[in-house]
Amino acid sequence: TKQVTTSDIRKKKEAGIPITMVTAYDFPSAKLVEDAGADMILVGDSLGMVVLGYDSTLPVTMDDMVHHTKAVTRAAKRAFVVSDMPFLSYHGTIEEAVKNAGRLMQEGLARAVKLEGGSELAPLITRLVQAGIPVVGHIGLTPQSVHQLGGYKVQGRDLEAAKKLLDDALALQQAGAFAIVLECVPQEVAKMIAQKLEIAVIGIGAGADCDGQVLVFHDLVGYASQLTPKFVKRYADIGTSIREAVATYVKEVELRHFPGPDHVFRASEETIKELYG
Ligand code: KIV
Ligand code: NA
Repeated sequence: TKQVTTSDIRKKKEAGIPITMVTAYDFPSAKLVEDAGADMILVGDSLGMVVLGYDSTLPVTMDDMVHHTKAVTRAAKRAFVVSDMPFLSYHGTIEEAVKNAGRLMQEGLARAVKLEGGSELAPLITRLVQAGIPVVGHIGLTPQSVHQLGGYKVQGRDLEAAKKLLDDALALQQAGAFAIVLECVPQEVAKMIAQKLEIAVIGIGAGADCDGQVLVFHDLVGYASQLTPKFVKRYADIGTSIREAVATYVKEVELRHFPGPDHVFRASEETIKELYG
């Protein structure tokens, strides 16, 4: 199987072919996303909320990210795996940040890292790229700053904020990022940014004019994700299927309908005779 590369992503942007990205946090979800044909898999720090049950992404640690990235990359043979740098893992010294990014690559076997922030990250991104680490930027709604933003809300609505987003996007491109995620911004603003950038703009809640789209796996398939923002489209209701399947199992065990004759092993005739006389 031919692996997706950063140059494949670049070519899709140039050719105007939409880039597809889905999050995954473990082996089976990564396998499903890969088999479904997505170009990229994001091991998002959304795993803190989606699979670890925290109410924000802030508690997620480097160890959490390495652990989940390892599981995902064991399944992803073709798709390009990007791993999120968690809260505060890239806000100390540049050396510390490079070391943390390096863990996601060396231990987790990620092929790129993603960081939330604008032009202030340019020096760090330059160093990561110099070290051979492909970087994805992330601007707009940046969930690690939720307490500063005052909630999960649309960003870049007024002219000044829209211009700041473009400046940040250009700074990330200039610093060497090969793509950016643009989260929760008006579609007209996202369209303008995608047009002005040479690198891929992957949107979530940013409209159809981005160069690609990303969604959280559990939101997309309806797997026990409580809070579904407006920009999510649910393509399945897996949670209901799972709950019904488990409820049926529970009932069948209680009624002794499971296990049935097809699910058991039999002793030999002699053994049965000896045991029961
Ligand atoms: O963590 C995540 O899932 C993300 C996407 C929403 C872009 O950063
Ligand atoms: Na994230």
